[in-house]
Amino acid sequence: MKTSYCAKYGGPEVYQIIDIDTPEPKENEVLVKVYRAVVSPTDGNFRSGKPLIARLFSGLFKPKMKIHGEMFVGEIVEVGTDVKYFKVNDMVYGTNGMKLGAYAEYVAVNVKNAIKKVPKDLDYKDVLPLIDGGITALPFLKEVGHIKAGDSVLINGSSGAVGSMAVMIAKHFKAEVTGVCSTNNVEKVKSLGADHVIDYKNEDFIKNNNKYDIIFDAVGKSSYGKAKSALIETGIYITTVPTPGVMIQALLRKKAKNKRASFMAAGLRKPNVKIEDLNYLEELVRSGELKPLHGKVYKLEDLGKAQIYVETGHKVGNVTIKVFE
Ligand SMILES: NC(=O)c1ccc[n+]([C@@H]2O[C@H](COP(=O)([O-])OP(=O)(O)OC[C@H]3O[C@@H](n4cnc5c(N)ncnc54)[C@H](OP(=O)(O)O)[C@@H]3O)[C@@H](O)[C@H]2O)c1
Repeated sequence: MKTSYCAKYGGPEVYQIIDIDTPEPKENEVLVKVYRAVVSPTDGNFRSGKPLIARLFSGLFKPKMKIHGEMFVGEIVEVGTDVKYFKVNDMVYGTNGMKLGAYAEYVAVNVKNAIKKVPKDLDYKDVLPLIDGGITALPFLKEVGHIKAGDSVLINGSSGAVGSMAVMIAKHFKAEVTGVCSTNNVEKVKSLGADHVIDYKNEDFIKNNNKYDIIFDAVGKSSYGKAKSALIETGIYITTVPTPGVMIQALLRKKAKNKRASFMAAGLRKPNVKIEDLNYLEELVRSGELKPLHGKVYKLEDLGKAQIYVETGHKVGNVTIKVFE
């Protein structure tokens, strides 16, 4: 099979397209023919080996995992002997956890990971973003932010994968939503349903005297120290990219009722919890409340180009690699 292979740490040029044997699924695995794989900001860390501390896990001198790509959608072409629920020809989507491997024509996936069948009434392209931004934005707003109807919620980075989902999910919870993005994306964020949009190139949400119940920094570009002035007295600041200070607050001030900061490692939650969230989000796609913001699509050969774009920090929605269709 064809794969994008990373034999050494470095820039996007280290990826090489090579042919290797198609993996054989173990007893508890399914072999998936990959249709699309997500390119997320963290993927580049496996390629670059940065931050260096991450090499304790990804390999000290060269990558342990040579085929990257965590999140995928595709069709099952073979099942392991112990697999009962999934069958050949099922369309499935999900994450292969830290085994990665989705930047290839085929990936062997352990069925204990968060993977699920693509509902027959939904487009596989519309469910793929749920496993990325969707299952991050939902628990952040629901479990950490305790969002409720009528809350005033600001989403910083509202045109990205997590932020765009957050706008639509917050609207689903009947919040009044303000999205923050740059000039180019104002119309897109309005079209997601945001009640107000702040163009950060022209206005600083911290300085305009508006106050929010929840400030969700989906891209980690603000600081709690500054943003807390834009919270109501009982407001909460949540961020996908926590500083040590936010982590300490998340541990020690979880139950505080006055202004506080918090975060969660959404990707580390148990597969069954993620699957419950995916069920919930699929229902929102079905009802039309959630219309995933599709970003650029690249060929497998152009994985390096896709990562260069993602690493600008200004991608729109979900960026994907199209392998088969
Ligand atoms: N904690 C967790 O469990 C968890 C889970 C998933 C992801 N993450 C992290 O969450 C972050 C977001 O992921 P993502 O995939 O959503 O990122 P993304 O799609 O790359 O976010 C890009 C968006 O951020 C906006 N942006 C860039 N600079 C900005 C600024 N100064 N102010 C406001 N918006 C700005 C961009 O809008 P403009 O182009 O308009 O500037 C762009 O649309 C990543 O760092 C990721 O690693 C954390």
